[in-house]
Amino acid sequence: MTINETIIARTAEALPWVKEIRRDLHRHPEKSGSETRTSGVVAKVLRELGIEVREGYHVTGLAGIIKGSLPGKTIGLRFDMDALEMQELTTHDYVSTIPGMMHACGHDGHTAMGLGVARVLMDMRDRLPGTVKLLFQPAEEDAQSGGGAQYMIRDGVLKNPDVDHVVGMHLWPDLDLGTVGSKPGPMMAGSDPFIINITGKGGHASMPHTAIDPIYIGSQIVTALQSIVSRNIDPFEQAVVTVGVFSGGSRYNVIPETAKIQGTVRTFDEGVRMKVRERVITIAEKTAEALGGKAEVDYRLTYPPLVNDAGIFERVRASAKDILGQDRFVDVVRPAPGGEDFAFFAKAVPSTFMFLGYRKPGETPVQPHNPYYDFDEDALGTGIQVFVKCAVDLAGEV
Ligand code: NI
Repeated sequence: MTINETIIARTAEALPWVKEIRRDLHRHPEKSGSETRTSGVVAKVLRELGIEVREGYHVTGLAGIIKGSLPGKTIGLRFDMDALEMQELTTHDYVSTIPGMMHACGHDGHTAMGLGVARVLMDMRDRLPGTVKLLFQPAEEDAQSGGGAQYMIRDGVLKNPDVDHVVGMHLWPDLDLGTVGSKPGPMMAGSDPFIINITGKGGHASMPHTAIDPIYIGSQIVTALQSIVSRNIDPFEQAVVTVGVFSGGSRYNVIPETAKIQGTVRTFDEGVRMKVRERVITIAEKTAEALGGKAEVDYRLTYPPLVNDAGIFERVRASAKDILGQDRFVDVVRPAPGGEDFAFFAKAVPSTFMFLGYRKPGETPVQPHNPYYDFDEDALGTGIQVFVKCAVDLAGEV
């Protein structure tokens, strides 16, 4: 059998088993950073398959190491494991058994797919070049904690042996079942929140000259922040600056002591991201200073823009087309505005992230983070084929 025939046959054999694992994980969703049972299941299955397991990569993160029989590169394949704190409303027979907790973003599918990839790769290890590291990641959904990817990297998951490239995937409602899609360059947004605390001097509304009005200062800051996109960013680049909260004051005839602004910034390029950050901080601090008050900016860099390496994208696209067929790879045109901490892997080594379709003809797919979320598990078979094919091809390019 050719490599492709082997991958397709072994995936078909593994798929019912993968679906069972996915349903078990779906029944037992776990919060970001607390994926203890899930990582236990992963470690057990990997060991049963005869795969070396390394644990201790940030809370529940772990890696499975598959050494091929032929020389080659080391390729990381990433699968996220966490669920969301929300009540499931579906009525299928594998509904969540944990009140207020649900796999509503398909990470149960991603994790099960990772175990399917492990099984298929072990079945064809005598023909596998290089080394594959299966990266099972905690806390993708928890941007406020910094996510899981950057801490797995900090804890050395890309070392010994050093990972050359990482490939990742997310189940995606806007692509057809049986397809994958991606694009070179920016794929998903960087997402950074900020808080601006303004201090003035409280006083009587009738005597503003004796006070320093933080409401007025804040108004000038909100207005000036909108100059960043229009006056500081190249018109061929993109950025969003949105103020979602502007609070201050408690009475109509009192000038308050303080006011507070909260907002979010979305960018698709690291240079633009840093430029916006510099402008937000400078505009807030200097505007407040010019008007006699003070502004303190708490600007958090959470998930950077997810940028696919153009060269790895081309190779991944060729691999996907080779295993699935020419028309089952979708060239994605526009990046998605959501954040995704695979971005940290893509910053560390040249990498590519893909979308895995589950839309069926004539049906409206349920969007992620919806209490009725579900997907057709046949998508996992497509994902396993593409992951395995990409690993074999990328590892073999010495
Ligand atoms: Ni997700």
